[in-house]
Amino acid sequence: MKILVLGGAGYIGSHTVSELVDAGEEVVIADNLETGHIEAVNPKAKFYEGDIRNREFIDSVFENEKIDAVIHFAANSLVGESMANPLKYYDNNLYGTKVLLESMVAHGVGKIVFSSTAATYGEPESIPILETDRTEPTNPYGETKLSMEKMMKWTGVAHGLRYVALRYFNACGAHKSGEIGEAHNPETHLIPLILQVPNGQRESVSIFGTDYDTKDGTCVRDYIHVTDLAQAHILAVKYLADGGESNVFNLGNGVGFTVKEVIETARKVTGHPIPAVESPRRGGDPAKLIASSEKARKVLGWNPEHAGLEEIIESAWKWHKTHPHGYAE
Ligand code: UFG
Repeated sequence: MKILVLGGAGYIGSHTVSELVDAGEEVVIADNLETGHIEAVNPKAKFYEGDIRNREFIDSVFENEKIDAVIHFAANSLVGESMANPLKYYDNNLYGTKVLLESMVAHGVGKIVFSSTAATYGEPESIPILETDRTEPTNPYGETKLSMEKMMKWTGVAHGLRYVALRYFNACGAHKSGEIGEAHNPETHLIPLILQVPNGQRESVSIFGTDYDTKDGTCVRDYIHVTDLAQAHILAVKYLADGGESNVFNLGNGVGFTVKEVIETARKVTGHPIPAVESPRRGGDPAKLIASSEKARKVLGWNPEHAGLEEIIESAWKWHKTHPHGYAE
């Protein structure tokens, strides 16, 4: 199969390209390199630099390449930034997807797998979260991702396109080679921020809120290794290629860790004391997010292989200690 990976130079995109290439698939990447990195572009993939909001650009990719399926990661993904600048998210995530779907329909490309998020649920009604639970996003990031799901649904009704929306919980870790990993600027995610301490880039890490209704008062998240997420995309493409109907899946381990547990595990992995400063809550953080991924296991045959928090942090540490400034050096 020839697969077009939009956003293939980003964090989850580059790891998915790596797994696709290892599985012997033909991969074409398109990325505007706004948050992606040229160094993360897999040399075995064909690369087009451009923006999905540019209809001529995306049309030219479909005209040059005979694409069987699209995997769509090209979006902005920071909750805080989306609160400060919601229209950026409507423009890139929603308008970008609209242009992409128009071009797919015009070129007869009918299969798409894309990054959705736990943020589509908002404050969960129960734990673990099921795909059928209420979706009431509490920020524009989650809102635009949910709208992307609906845009695909109605495009499917009208034009026969089929999609799989993968609702990720907390993506983390890095490729086993240590050659690609997480590199955001600015960094806002817990594990990379913690690892900046043993890397000598910050004195301490902040714990955002210690008065949540959880076992130690800090937020609980379901941390899922990026390579396991990558595998789910491959299974989802196969599911669509085998005739599967449009569907939505949660991707998580089904196990929650508190912020304090994550910091403690990082101390163990790095052998560094990693001072932590108890700080006020960060606005908009739900106390607990844990996925039920039973559906992905049953329907896609997904089986996360790097579920241990220690293994996840070890892989992240291997990347960050050799790339303290991401791809910058
Ligand atoms: N946290 C800290 N200190 C920090 C950074 C984070 O205590 O310096 C806490 C947060 O408050 C949160 C947990 O660590 O409780 C995880 O925070 P991240 O920023 O790493 O991840 P989020 O859970 O906020 O975000 C993830 C995904 C988003 C998605 C969101 C859904 O990265 O894409 O879940 O709520 F939208």
